[in-house]
Amino acid sequence: GGAGVPRINEAFLNLKASYLFAEVKKRTQAYRAAHPDARLIDLGIGDVTLPLPPVVVDALQAATREQARAETLRGYGPYVGYEFLRAAIAEHDFGSRGVTLAPDEIFVSDGGKSDAANIQELFAPDAVVALMDPAYPVYADANVIAGRSGPADASGRYPGFVYLPCTAENDFQPALPDRPVDLIYLCYPNNPTGAVMTRAMLRRWVDYAREHEAVIVYDAAYEAYIRDPDVPRSIYEIEGARAVAIESRSFSKSAGFTGLRMAYTVVPREAQGRTAAGAATSLNQLWLRRTSTKSNGPPYIVQRAAAAVYTSEGQKQVRGLVDSYMDNARTLREGLERAGLTVYGGRNAPYIWIRTPAGTSSWDFFDRLLAEAQIVGVPGSGFGPSGEGYFRVTAFGSHADSVEAVQRIATRLRG
Ligand code: MLT
Repeated sequence: GGAGVPRINEAFLNLKASYLFAEVKKRTQAYRAAHPDARLIDLGIGDVTLPLPPVVVDALQAATREQARAETLRGYGPYVGYEFLRAAIAEHDFGSRGVTLAPDEIFVSDGGKSDAANIQELFAPDAVVALMDPAYPVYADANVIAGRSGPADASGRYPGFVYLPCTAENDFQPALPDRPVDLIYLCYPNNPTGAVMTRAMLRRWVDYAREHEAVIVYDAAYEAYIRDPDVPRSIYEIEGARAVAIESRSFSKSAGFTGLRMAYTVVPREAQGRTAAGAATSLNQLWLRRTSTKSNGPPYIVQRAAAAVYTSEGQKQVRGLVDSYMDNARTLREGLERAGLTVYGGRNAPYIWIRTPAGTSSWDFFDRLLAEAQIVGVPGSGFGPSGEGYFRVTAFGSHADSVEAVQRIATRLRG
């Protein structure tokens, strides 16, 4: 059978059976169905639990009222986002740190996930991709779908990708690629390990990309969690980065927009790719063209809500949210250490990266934590082969749940 129906993109068949967080959800639901009385603590996907900041809710309501009157109705907006928001982003997220960006270098979107998945469309089908291992699964999956990976081998590695292992042994700092690559995905503060990169380390990457004609896709979705004043907030704080780096940020984890949806990607005017014939081509112009075709921009009311984040009251309220989650991070980190576990991260990032007990695989630890403590986390191996033997918990739960989680782990986890 099958003749007469269209052929599919067979690269999809190279994906793992389900998206990591969908698999976690499936196993969690199965446990819930079998144990309807259990009170689960969900420290799995990094979804926020605190309500939206009041300035955001006010802005949503005001913008909604505008939509109720013909005189102030906004229909289709700019493909790349409204100027009022792009200008606020340039001023507050970058200008305040000495990085000059023009609004037309900022592309507003519906989420960091979409941007992380879509940016690879700018590059050749045979572009070589380097991935931190472990990493947010979207970078890998999007490039698998685009046909850059081939089928996974027995260890779960894709032969088409260059893996940059990040483990306790190298302090979660990836080594420079040992063969030519075109596209390098870096994420700092890191999901899932919680590691950060110093200015000197980041400079090595920018220098490498300039020297080897690679482009860095820099995912800074967790930038708001940086506490250490010496850690760079943006890759553009590094000299020369404008020519070789694309940076994404998100409102999800800072202002609690996981449900509202809002993010942006910076593609500087100097960032270039080339044609097969060697002609230099502006990545900014390609991304503009791509976005104009595929998007009408995020909802006006959500862009107004995002702009409210940049008022001084908004900045204060967002700091309050981030501080609360970082409080959870400390509770988890210290509590898990007291329980005898080895943990990383949680100091400049909302994730705690746990070493699983000797002889316990990531998925075994997931099952044990669920069965013995009714806690959901994410198995490290789901983020890549080098995540095996690790386990991630998020600081985005409620404070009460974070406190109870460490108590349960200290008292209920056997062995
Ligand atoms: C995570 O848990 O890694 C993130 O919440 C996933 C996402 O941002 O899509």
